[in-house]
Amino acid sequence: MSVSGRMSSKLRKSSQIDMAKEIVFTLNSVKCTVAQEISDQVLVHFIRDVLKLKATKFGCGMDQCGACKVLIDDQVRNSCQIYLSELEGKSVMTLEGLQSSAKFISLKNSFAHENAAQCGFCTSGILITCFSLISKNNHLSEKEIKEKLKDNLCRCGVHHKILKSVVRVMN
Ligand code: FES
Ligand code: FES
Repeated sequence: MSVSGRMSSKLRKSSQIDMAKEIVFTLNSVKCTVAQEISDQVLVHFIRDVLKLKATKFGCGMDQCGACKVLIDDQVRNSCQIYLSELEGKSVMTLEGLQSSAKFISLKNSFAHENAAQCGFCTSGILITCFSLISKNNHLSEKEIKEKLKDNLCRCGVHHKILKSVVRVMN
């Protein structure tokens, strides 16, 4: 994947600063090695500005909106609250890394069928949350799905369509 080439050159540069001190993790199944000197960088900025992966959005930056959600070791996390220093040995997955997953393709198709996005700014974070939901439990009630989505804000108000999309995939 083209991401890996871009990733290696950027990361090689940063890891040259101090080869003895590195943080190693995977991002979309590609090994990342970064120097301790940039360990205070926030993950969402690393993903968007260094790796140029733009699906993950930066919204509030305050753990409030969910636009920046990614999977870390299969758990949904707000990447604006995660420092690179916390990622040693972990596996990070963004929307780009899910593109070949059959479950994700069903989910994406269901969103398209229900027209479950308006401006689309929240959609990446919501897809991450929904993907995690359907991966862990395929039999949630509408009430449970709503509860799981409470940390994903959508200012366009398309939650009812998102709900229908998830129910459709579960059925
Ligand atoms: S940008 Fe991370 S929660 Fe809003
Ligand atoms: S579709 Fe616009 S914020 Fe959700």
